[in-house]
Amino acid sequence: MAKDKNQYVCSDCGGISPKWLGKCPHCHAWNTLIESVAETSSAPTKNRFASLAKTAEVTVLGDIEAIDFARTPTGQEELDRVLGGGMVEGGVVLIGGDPGIGKSTLLLQALDSLQRSGQRTLYVTGEESGAQVALRARRLGLDGSQVSVLAEIGLEKILATLEATRPDIAVIDSIQTVYSEQLTSAPGSVSQVRECAAHLTRFAKASGQVDGVGRGRATSIVLVGHVTKEGALAGPRVLEHMVDTVLYFEGDTHSSFRLVRAIKNRFGAVNEIGVFAMTEKGLKGVSNPSAIFLSQHAEPVPGSCVMVTLEGTRPMLVEIQALVDSGGPSPRRLSVGLDKDRLAMLLAVLHRHAGVACMDQDVFVNAVGGVKISEPAADLAVLLSITSSLRGKPLPKGFFAFGEVGLAGEVRPAPRGQERLKEAAKLGFSVAVVPKANLPKNLKSRDFEGLTIHPVERVEQAMEVVRGLS
Ligand code: TYD
Ligand code: MG
Repeated sequence: MAKDKNQYVCSDCGGISPKWLGKCPHCHAWNTLIESVAETSSAPTKNRFASLAKTAEVTVLGDIEAIDFARTPTGQEELDRVLGGGMVEGGVVLIGGDPGIGKSTLLLQALDSLQRSGQRTLYVTGEESGAQVALRARRLGLDGSQVSVLAEIGLEKILATLEATRPDIAVIDSIQTVYSEQLTSAPGSVSQVRECAAHLTRFAKASGQVDGVGRGRATSIVLVGHVTKEGALAGPRVLEHMVDTVLYFEGDTHSSFRLVRAIKNRFGAVNEIGVFAMTEKGLKGVSNPSAIFLSQHAEPVPGSCVMVTLEGTRPMLVEIQALVDSGGPSPRRLSVGLDKDRLAMLLAVLHRHAGVACMDQDVFVNAVGGVKISEPAADLAVLLSITSSLRGKPLPKGFFAFGEVGLAGEVRPAPRGQERLKEAAKLGFSVAVVPKANLPKNLKSRDFEGLTIHPVERVEQAMEVVRGLS
């Protein structure tokens, strides 16, 4: 029988090469060959299938009982919100984020409350020693915690421990430190991360079955992943495909607020966010986060416009700041927390449709508090903050705006506009420029929830309204 051998698989075309090459011999892409273990039994020859004794059973969809997933609340309300209600039995969650943002802290807190509610937990630490974890636990006020800790980075040993102890929830902190003896590449390399994640995922999925049949209690696994400088989870995107749920930590490490966002969730809604505040005693959930991303100006300042963003189920108010300043021969366009390409597009729309030119100006745009806004409803606020900075004129007190801007200069409605309006009214905002289509159909006056609303259909109209206000 052929011995297990390593092979190199192209991450672009899937072509296989027996040795490492700089260029894939199949698709000629550079630097795409990744080491992996050759599975000798994986060649799907006719012979192999014919020799199988039994075929698998095929079931009609209607006959399958739709069992709701058993969810275990983690005791961290905001974490449960992004998970869609709690940890799913046998589910695999990948949680990514910058170093030092609070991944280990959050998971240790969650494990402790799970353990207290009678779940069996295991915390596998590859980055810190047991003593360091204990120190953190003490800092978090979790003295005498019953969470089991395993300081190990060998995949085979971790799997054997999981098999023997069969915890309900296991955390692997982090997947980049785990290595498999079957591969020669270093821990953290693409092939190691992929191989180890695949094995752990397979374990979680298979752990509910005792001897291939029946339903035992399956292990849920949480993988901690680091984020590279480019902002992607280190290791291949395949990691995201393998797991059931992908969560990202966002936020500025200098501010105390952290967002956990669901990027993918087989068991719940995506784009749901959980909001936490980093305190002396670890992460605390913020149940009413709508006003945390506003900076407190005593008087309105130029270049600032508040918008209402709706991420997941909760509306939040975020301040967009812009600074427009005379630039050199090649002016800079920089955005933090907002899409850079979209900024370039918006500047073009502003020029073409509202006649406001920023060609010779540096333009910087920032979403306050380290929050990332991906929805186009921020467009109008971005444009208004830019023009406000350009003119050096602040927007009126209590002003906010939202709405998507199209290339033709039209202002498109944002989803669930009335909810956004209500939230802003609740927080004491009073004047708004919003897409006309976001207003209730039969609204007689321009008064809604005590707000003075200026409905607009085009960018130039929005500019005119604002000029009249300030
Ligand atoms: P950590 O969970 O170690 O981050 P990660 O695992 O994502 O790398 O978080 C460490 C940061 O959190 C560190 O900068 C200190 C801060 N922190 C607090 O402010 N309060 C606390 O109670 C703890 C435990 C950490
Ligand atoms: Mg950590």
